[in-house]
Amino acid sequence: MSASTTSETPGAESGPGTTAAAGTTGAAASAASDSPGAAEVRGEADRRRTFAVISHPDAGKSTLTEALALHARVIQDAGVTHGKSSRHSTVSDWMGMEQERGISISSAALQFEHRDTVLNLVDTPGHADFSEDTYRVLAAVDCAVMLIDAAKGFEPQTLKLLDVCKQRGLPIVTVINKWDRPGHDALGLIDEIGERTAMVPVPLTWPAGIAGSFEGLIDIRNGRSVKLEAVEGGALPAREEPVNASELDPTEAELWETAEETADLVVSSHGGFDRDSFRAAELTPVLFTAAARNYGVRQLLDVLVELAPPATARTSSEGVVRDVDSDFSGFVFKVQSGQNASHRDHIAFMRICSGVFERGMVINNARTDKPFATKYAHRVVGRTRQALETAWPGDVVGLVNAASLRVGDSLFRGKPVEFAGIPHFAPEHFVVCRATDPGRYKQFRRGIGQLEHEGVIQVFRSDLRGDQAPVLAAVGPLQFEVAEQRMREEFRAPVKLESMEYTLIRRATEGVDTAPQAFRGGEILYRGDGEAVAVFADRYKIAHFTESYPKVTLSVIGS
Ligand code: G4P
Repeated sequence: MSASTTSETPGAESGPGTTAAAGTTGAAASAASDSPGAAEVRGEADRRRTFAVISHPDAGKSTLTEALALHARVIQDAGVTHGKSSRHSTVSDWMGMEQERGISISSAALQFEHRDTVLNLVDTPGHADFSEDTYRVLAAVDCAVMLIDAAKGFEPQTLKLLDVCKQRGLPIVTVINKWDRPGHDALGLIDEIGERTAMVPVPLTWPAGIAGSFEGLIDIRNGRSVKLEAVEGGALPAREEPVNASELDPTEAELWETAEETADLVVSSHGGFDRDSFRAAELTPVLFTAAARNYGVRQLLDVLVELAPPATARTSSEGVVRDVDSDFSGFVFKVQSGQNASHRDHIAFMRICSGVFERGMVINNARTDKPFATKYAHRVVGRTRQALETAWPGDVVGLVNAASLRVGDSLFRGKPVEFAGIPHFAPEHFVVCRATDPGRYKQFRRGIGQLEHEGVIQVFRSDLRGDQAPVLAAVGPLQFEVAEQRMREEFRAPVKLESMEYTLIRRATEGVDTAPQAFRGGEILYRGDGEAVAVFADRYKIAHFTESYPKVTLSVIGS
């Protein structure tokens, strides 16, 4: 890779009507002449819906993912639609630990097509301990589907992730799942959604039958009612049959009448759907499903296609709008190593924000100001990869051999752009990490650095502790297990982790020099980029600290 291959022309951002790759030089220059025009880029961006499913573990996220893929045409079939029994070894469980525990740590994207619209479903880890990963994924999507178990309502992890979506202003589609099982009353759930989300809940489908006897659905938008029947235990899309009132026996007729009356009641009390309010995250459309039977899944796909926002312009950290048809740009929201045991590689997952991505293109990294060759670009789900030639705004690309890329990096061609970095999630667990074999200190440093860049754990240092004993911080303790295992197996630098009493962290924005590095129940630590934080054992220690050192300004991380 020579520097000449990427001598971009600053200020050469293409305006509407010019080719997306105009103004670029170097390795991809030959491709630029027949690169798609701005209108094509806009068209492709417009038919993309990039979303994530957020839920508490066990609400049915994996089942719903499979059901969505089953209904849509999977553009890239990477072992997703093969049923629950094989799922845990086919989708994203690439680390031994994931296989052992049946949990999914890695995030990848699944792409499928429904009614000429491309849906990018970005996978989020199932375990609450990896919510930091989920947090990053939420920076890369344009919409979230919040999945609720009809019998459990809002659970802690759902609420935590809902909070993150709200902070990001993400539009949210609410799905009440497992309606085929006994659960709460539908009206009660609608009220709960309103209270918990502070958004107006507007049902778009309404179930015929209470939770536990799911007979069919009323499509509130067009008034059509369909009876549902599971086919081959959920291995095929559910059979849908229009309800014909004259053919119903009295009990059935009553069931549908009640459903229609209740649906009318809800609509008249909450109002109808309003696209602007949904996009502004002031209103949440609500749908009912039984993902395991494929009930209501087609309706959810229709709602995503018709109502969810397409990939649109993103604003840089300096407030400059980068239109989708501008030169290529994207950002890294996830970095992963060791997916392939035979090649110890790094994959950076990039969300495309503008322009067209063509494999082989040389792109610039805004942080390092260095070029990056995209010879190995893939769609990645778990261990499976497919070479990817072209991708558009909203798509997720896995860049292989991406050791130089970090979470939050902005990548571009043409006019430079830097998107706002992905904020950290506040860790609640802290350990001191030491190499057990002092002879492998070099590997120890390299490993810790790599895990930090990938965002596997957060790393802090202080003069007091020295470089040999960094503090690792995590949102959930399983993150430490991943770090420990990778240090041992991948970097051959086994570590010893000593737990610390801290549970709270604050950013120390000003006056940090006026406080000692260590104090009762806390200490000051620094990230690699120099940001100072203060960690505390409990709330009382924070109160005591602010009283003792009033010149230090503390702020909450992740809000
Ligand atoms: P998660 O990814 O959110 O953790 O949940 P997952 O899809 O693994 O689903 C958790 C359990 O809930 C699974 O049962 C799954 O089959 C069941 N489930 C998901 N959606 C529905 C639904 O709409 N109706 C019903 N009745 N069950 C649903 P399991 O017992 O763990 O596995 P399995 O033996 O059923 O495969």
